[in-house]
Amino acid sequence: MTLNYDELRALDARHVWHPFTQAGTAPPPILALGARGATIYGADGREYLDLVSSWWVNLHGHAHPAIAQAVADQAARLEQIIFADFTHEPAIRLAARLTELLPGDLDRVFWSDNGSTAVEVALKLAHQYWHNLGEERTTYVAFEGGYHGDTVGAMSAGRASGFFTAWERMLFPVEMVPFPATWDGDPDPEAKEAVALDALERILDRHRGKVAAVIVEPLVQGAGGMRMCRPEFLRALAARIRDAGSLLIFDEVMTGFGRTGDLFACRGAGVTPDLVCLSKGISGGFLPLAATVTTERIWRAFLGEDLTTAFLHGHSYTANPLGCAAGLASLDLLVTAECAQQRRTIEAVHRERLAGMSGIARPRVCGTIAAFDLPGGGEGYGAGIGARLKKEFLGRGLLLRPLGNVLYLLPPYCLDRGELERAWDIIAEVVAGL
Ligand SMILES: Cc1ncc(COP(=O)(O)O)c(C=O)c1O
Repeated sequence: MTLNYDELRALDARHVWHPFTQAGTAPPPILALGARGATIYGADGREYLDLVSSWWVNLHGHAHPAIAQAVADQAARLEQIIFADFTHEPAIRLAARLTELLPGDLDRVFWSDNGSTAVEVALKLAHQYWHNLGEERTTYVAFEGGYHGDTVGAMSAGRASGFFTAWERMLFPVEMVPFPATWDGDPDPEAKEAVALDALERILDRHRGKVAAVIVEPLVQGAGGMRMCRPEFLRALAARIRDAGSLLIFDEVMTGFGRTGDLFACRGAGVTPDLVCLSKGISGGFLPLAATVTTERIWRAFLGEDLTTAFLHGHSYTANPLGCAAGLASLDLLVTAECAQQRRTIEAVHRERLAGMSGIARPRVCGTIAAFDLPGGGEGYGAGIGARLKKEFLGRGLLLRPLGNVLYLLPPYCLDRGELERAWDIIAEVVAGL
């Protein structure tokens, strides 16, 4: 039975529950018929330039033929298999390649299937690592404004993001440190960093020997408003945590796979954390896949003669072969000189265009990510200006999803200079008219 677009829309309205949406007031979703490169084709006959990489997952453009082919080939061979007692070539090869690209001794990959589970795994590994060593370290430390996903552990670590008030009583306590958000022309980033490091020291002192791990989104806090920090801060943070004998978790679910310029923010910042959470771009935006990568030291603490020290955690679609095949094909594209050049071009255009914009506050760029605040638009995710602007931009063919009064671009790397310049022209026009 084929359904026409109106019938599909009616069925969507009748049966589908969309994420992060107030269905009581939201306009009907756009029915996507297909997408190529950075362009999404709507059933409304319109085209939308995807400047948010479809929730930060897409790297090389939609329906990239090389990745599509890799997925199709893999689907014809082995589509899915239980990952306990079995293993398979795409998961093995992708694990080996990721560990080659990550710094230091981040050599062990635990597969899962989305960013929240990658974080949940990291939090649980940290907890059990200490438990297996005979130490009860149960305190976690995270950053104000941080967002780590929507499962209970991830929400607890992101409790200061403002997204989770409805579930406040479900969450476990996490100590919060202010995030030293900085921007181009910030007169005093060091002062904010000193405040953050001081707060961290006090927590580490107060909970001496009890802090299991500190979790941070390195270089850029995503959902909290594309808030950026300096690599110097991450290096100082890592040193403090190392001195305290605690574990450092980098949540690179958003920052991984080239978003911040370097392949991973940890590499760019010159820090090797104890655990790294990866997802989103890991499959080039094709399939749900995630990894929590850790060191031999942590891996060894889980070895034993029986299940008591084993990590009894797993998801049905762990290490899905299609996702891993997509990941391998995506990595082939990511490590090319051409892709590095595309990322540099995006960064250069962001910088040029932001420098020429007026009526904005806190302009900032980190690799392919550009953001700025709109003064006077209210603050926080729910700020009304965000919804108004989203609608305005969609009307002009741009898929942009402001985070409250923060407007940001996080495009796929295939976006060419002309497309990006056109997007910035429209943004400048809309901002000037506010
Ligand atoms: C930094 C970070 N961690 C974790 C997540 C959760 O990922 P997922 O939506 O795949 O569960 C996100 C999602 O936006 C994120 O930005």
